[in-house]
Amino acid sequence: MATTSASASGKLILFGEHAVVHGQPAIAVPLGNLRTTANIEDSPPGAGLTISAPGISDDVLHYTPSPANKNNALFYTISQVLAQLSIQQPPDIHVDIESQIPIGAGMGSGAAISTALVRALIRHLEYSIGLEELNTLVYEVEKIHHGTPSGIDNTVIVYEKPVFFVRGTSPETFAVSHAFQLLVADAGHRTPTHVTVGDVRKLYEQKPKQVGEIFTQIGDITRQAREAIQKNDLSALGQLMNDNHALLRELTVSDERLDQLCAMARKAGAIGAKLSGGGRGGNLIALVTPDSAPFVQSALADETDQKVFLTTVG
Ligand code: PMV
Repeated sequence: MATTSASASGKLILFGEHAVVHGQPAIAVPLGNLRTTANIEDSPPGAGLTISAPGISDDVLHYTPSPANKNNALFYTISQVLAQLSIQQPPDIHVDIESQIPIGAGMGSGAAISTALVRALIRHLEYSIGLEELNTLVYEVEKIHHGTPSGIDNTVIVYEKPVFFVRGTSPETFAVSHAFQLLVADAGHRTPTHVTVGDVRKLYEQKPKQVGEIFTQIGDITRQAREAIQKNDLSALGQLMNDNHALLRELTVSDERLDQLCAMARKAGAIGAKLSGGGRGGNLIALVTPDSAPFVQSALADETDQKVFLTTVG
């Protein structure tokens, strides 16, 4: 039986998280070697639409059209696609989702699953979809995970290119002419992104001037970081990461553990380090050279007791 497959990458936010929700630019890059794949096969007539998604559900899920699907990202993605194609009756197919992207770790697992699923469904049903349309659809599903997402996750994953992203404007993708290396370490604990985003919003309401100033500074750092990437100025880039981390701390989205891990990465030879994504847990990223990478990698792996990924940007 023919299988239709489609995949999508993970992502990392390099600069500008949180400030991006409030109109400042952010930079994010795809993680091409960490992917989610959706495989679809036809099922016997009358079998309906079933989904297996290890890591999300231990059971095989049966899709039926229902308003309650709005609470389930997989079902909501499917209902959006079927509505877009004006298909009333769910097709008899089985969808199998495999993901290498850790769930809820700020690597874009949610957006990658939706993107791979939409691509595979559309292809299997012999339709096509443009990137812009796909991006809009995945953004709708992202709202389930994040409440009021800026749209950066879906954009970097759908386009699978580094993006300089400003909420509400057309995505600006850019090429990284000089590749650089980052280590990605998991702090081992998590806070849902909608919680930290909500807390930053409250802080902004309480102290508009002070917090607005922090957002502006993060925006400036992000613009300088883009220049540093283009000039391959790694020492400037590392310093900008440290500065961005300090400002995220002021926004209360870092915590002791993240601060400690970033400090440890710098001490082991990283040029710079910062949290990445929603914060209060999740991931941190450390800028390294081929020489320093093994030292920083083993320091972080020993401390976190978790696998530390080395990724090349560009
Ligand atoms: O937790 P993540 O990696 O999905 O990143 C969230 C990024 C925020 O800027 C905090 C929120 C957003 O919607 O942009």
